[in-house]
Amino acid sequence: MATNGSQKKVGLAPDRLASFYGRDIVSVMQFSRDDLTYIFGVADEMRSLVKRVGATDLLKGYVLGNLFYEPSTRTSSSFIAAMERLGGSVIPIHGVQYSSVSKGESLPDTIRTLQCYADVIVLRHPEIGASAVAARYATKPVISAGDGTGEHPTQGLLDIYTIYSELGAVDGLHVAMVGDLRNGRTVHSLARLLRLYDTKMTFVAPDILQLPADLKAELEDSGRVVRETGRLQDVIADADVIYVTRVQKERFDDLRLYEAVKDYYEITPELMEQAKPRMALMHPLPRVGEIHYDVDDDPRAAYFRQMENGMYVRMALLAAVLGKV
Ligand code: NCD
Repeated sequence: MATNGSQKKVGLAPDRLASFYGRDIVSVMQFSRDDLTYIFGVADEMRSLVKRVGATDLLKGYVLGNLFYEPSTRTSSSFIAAMERLGGSVIPIHGVQYSSVSKGESLPDTIRTLQCYADVIVLRHPEIGASAVAARYATKPVISAGDGTGEHPTQGLLDIYTIYSELGAVDGLHVAMVGDLRNGRTVHSLARLLRLYDTKMTFVAPDILQLPADLKAELEDSGRVVRETGRLQDVIADADVIYVTRVQKERFDDLRLYEAVKDYYEITPELMEQAKPRMALMHPLPRVGEIHYDVDDDPRAAYFRQMENGMYVRMALLAAVLGKV
């Protein structure tokens, strides 16, 4: 619920202005296909800017509050790098055990505090819906960096951006999502975004890790056919994108269940021989055994490019919510 969204910015198409300037980013459901096209265009510009000169002063004087209640390497450091490459600065709060959260401070009060000092807040939190709650209390834009097993909207955006940059299009593709589809928030955001495209989606997981029933119903209600299987063999030769995820150990109450499913799938060089010559193997990372290290040199292994793309997409989003593009 940011209040600075009413200011007009020259050079931004009015519909895009309404979509991003001063807005929170808490779910991919808020985006249209045009919004994605717009942000990806800006991300392309950010990429060429970084390659050419490394940094700019577009967000000089602006401050990002980077508030992480859960572990993170890529999301947190790519937001920091994004803000700094745009000339802004960052208040990093990583170990919340060292902040007043450990004294029992509530999320709304922590947000009210941080926004006194920052112009935009990035929040990762273990509870579904936490970023929407934070957004209600904040007068500055709140960007979710993942809320529990809910969504991870900026990862969803960088995943679609990566599919475009790897394969040139999203329409017409067969996207297979593999692994912990129940708890993996990146899959939840990606599947919701793929609704906007003419794609075939197959969800590959053991029964206990299949998509949550409400998300499955949501996809079906939007006219998508939801194909579920437990076998990688059913998709390996046909998929244009194989999006692999880690089994999310930290979401299991019963670790025996985790042990039973943790090694269910492994992408190996032998398996990759059966995949299409032109396809993208993706993973939000970190991996813990789902993709063999010997696959890394395969030109179809897109996961390291995918994480680099995260910085360009986050640069685009920060500049957009602060009204600078
Ligand atoms: C993911 C996350 O935190 O949801 N990581 C990331 O942000 N790239 C995936 C995961 O933790 O498995």
